[in-house]
Amino acid sequence: MAGRRATVTGWGAYLPQQVLTNHDLERMVDTSDEWIVTRTGIRERRIASPTETTLQMSKVAARQALTVAGIEPQHLDLIIVATITPDLLMPATASLLQAELGASRAGAFDLVAACSGFVYAMTVGAQFIAAGTAETVLVVGADALTRWVDFTDRSTCVLFGDGAGAAVLQATTADEGILSSVLGSDGTGGMHLYLEGFHELLSANGMHPPKRPAMRMHGSEVFRFSVRVMGEAAVEAIAKAGLQLDEIDLLIPHQANLRIIDAAAKRLGLPPEKVWINLDRYGNTSAASVPICLAEAADAGALRPGMNVVLVAFGGGLSWAACVVRWGWSGVPGRG
Ligand code: UT7
Repeated sequence: MAGRRATVTGWGAYLPQQVLTNHDLERMVDTSDEWIVTRTGIRERRIASPTETTLQMSKVAARQALTVAGIEPQHLDLIIVATITPDLLMPATASLLQAELGASRAGAFDLVAACSGFVYAMTVGAQFIAAGTAETVLVVGADALTRWVDFTDRSTCVLFGDGAGAAVLQATTADEGILSSVLGSDGTGGMHLYLEGFHELLSANGMHPPKRPAMRMHGSEVFRFSVRVMGEAAVEAIAKAGLQLDEIDLLIPHQANLRIIDAAAKRLGLPPEKVWINLDRYGNTSAASVPICLAEAADAGALRPGMNVVLVAFGGGLSWAACVVRWGWSGVPGRG
């Protein structure tokens, strides 16, 4: 019998209805489908409408995850929402979600770690379960980054899309679940990816109305950083799990750039069929990217009990996170 761990028993995802293709972007900025596909692998992305808020997208993904897990909202002990695009700064999106779901017993908080947020939140949720503080945790990654994208800046506006993904974690003593985690941060690179104008917005008065904040990025700096940390973090998490590289069955990487994903897969020695990719359809959905992939892979039957799966992400902060999950739910009472 293994120690007490968190295992994934539910998953869900939500993507907005509106599709923005590379060809649409060709009409908005000086870019081309050929440049975007070659440099990033992205072909189209989804754009949240005013009613597809971070909360609403989270709610749909969360409800799906609860249904898959067969869990009533009242049984949740904790809700963590990883987002950098909350609808409000206060209250937390997690608190609003707790109310919408009717999760009357759950504590709730948001976690801010940009595109690494979901893997950070999985790690935090897993610690609550391993420590015995919680039995059942809902983890959500949701972002509507296009609300903060400057659609005149071709170096960023082609990259991002909106969406949400969710997972239910439950306690198990079977040999499965979240085996290891690695969290990292390098704030010295923080200004390589940031929201310009937010400080001015907070400190402005009526005499000096602020400009709308917008995301800015030093793309090549973030690229170099991500190629290094994605591989390193994944390798470290695999070693911490006591596994060899050839025991990994599937890599679920943050969906930022196909070239970054290819470098991570190469570092792990994984062939393309062992790497989950959907950025061609959704672009970079920030904290939502990993849980959307997880839900897609699970729904497609690509995740089978006993498989070792690596989740790895990087993003603003700068930050990175990886965890190794052994798929399965045989150890959870009432499942299997
Ligand atoms: O979740 C984390 C979020 N951030 C990231 O993941 C970003 C990581 N970085 C990247 O993915 C890549 O650095 C980019 C895709 C952003 C850029 O690719 P790159 O190969 O690093 O290109 P670059 O920034 O070195 O730019 C090359 C050229 C430049 O033109 P010049 O100076 O060579 O004439 C850019 O102005 O490409 C130009 N360029 C574009 N051209 C057409 C930049 N954006 C575009 C564009 N369309 N959208």
